[in-house]
Amino acid sequence: MSVRTAIPLLTPLLPDRDSLAPYLDQLDRNRHYSNFGPLNTALEQRLSGLFEAHSNHPIHVTTTSSATLGLELVLSSLDLPPGSKVIVPALTFVASLTTIIRAGYIPVIADIDPDSWLLTPAIAAEAATQSGAKAVLAVAAFGQPQDTLGWSEFQRQSGLNVVIDAAGAFGSQWVEAPDIPVVYSMHATKSLAAGEGGMVVSGNATVNNTVRQLSNFGINLDANAGFPVGHLSFVGSNAKLSEYHAAVAHASLDQWDAQARLRQRIYHDYREALVQACGADLQWQAGIQLAAPTIFCVRMATDARDRLEKICQQRQIATRRWYQPLLHQHAAKVAPIIKQPTPIAEAVANGLIGLPFSTFISRQDITDVVEAVSLATVNIAPINQLK
Ligand SMILES: Cc1ncc(COP(=O)(O)O)c(C=O)c1O
Repeated sequence: MSVRTAIPLLTPLLPDRDSLAPYLDQLDRNRHYSNFGPLNTALEQRLSGLFEAHSNHPIHVTTTSSATLGLELVLSSLDLPPGSKVIVPALTFVASLTTIIRAGYIPVIADIDPDSWLLTPAIAAEAATQSGAKAVLAVAAFGQPQDTLGWSEFQRQSGLNVVIDAAGAFGSQWVEAPDIPVVYSMHATKSLAAGEGGMVVSGNATVNNTVRQLSNFGINLDANAGFPVGHLSFVGSNAKLSEYHAAVAHASLDQWDAQARLRQRIYHDYREALVQACGADLQWQAGIQLAAPTIFCVRMATDARDRLEKICQQRQIATRRWYQPLLHQHAAKVAPIIKQPTPIAEAVANGLIGLPFSTFISRQDITDVVEAVSLATVNIAPINQLK
């Protein structure tokens, strides 16, 4: 009798020790371990070159110890009055919410688009009229990119500041608009993995310089600031990326293209197999084909989702209700928040499920997952349309 092995939800892919060796050798020679050392500087330069190939303006990259801190510092750099309202979509990771509160603002939780499952400028405009918000934290949810040019237009017309949380969208989300800062994660589960890490990318040197100072406690580093170097000019934090993490990020970047192709191929074959087996019983997030998918999410009828979870539990197939509970459903202790009506986010979340996905997933694993999804969706009423 064959013994079934468990199928994990997600297995990170980080560079092995041989790929790290040249960067660790540099670290040994440099004897510089944090505080904007040479590996960090070189990493920021490599990354800005990559982003500049996808925009027609200079790009500034500032690394941080996580995307969460990067987001908190960019939001702080907006310097809005304490208690200002900031719009955020209901369907996102909790960090999108906590960073707003930690920056001293009040989240306004808004709905999402029924096709892309993203906050859009039109939804934000409506939420701003209702709430009097001063800023928007738009999210590239599930790695699906936001339209920076569209948000730039929104920012110009509305006067609200826009920041994009693209934590899971490295390689798919670019920074086409110079006035919209975008924040990425280099957590172990992301496609450009450093273990922990983040980066703030923008076309505005002032935003990046402010974030850099905020990441170094708020100490002024600029001799031309009209303020003594070494004095506090902001209340910042310690959010610097260590040289060790920069070393991992370099090695990860060396392998990124090959890894991204592999992720795309597996995602494509997996999705094709599910579409063939379950067709109209499944709804997919609308948008571009992602450059390097790291998670695998699909919507189905609520009954089918609940049945699938039971089947997967019996068969040791890991699943996750990504981004659930929705932001406002956490909120007993997380206050104050303001909530707009979110019927679409609730309808999407009621049938959303994350299936196992990684560069290590085998064909047999995929066959097993597809079989479980087919079993769960058979004889279930069709998925309800969102429009
Ligand atoms: C949408 C979103 N925002 C923020 C984060 C936080 O990123 P980090 O772990 O780098 O702080 C994540 C992490 O997955 C995320 O998905």
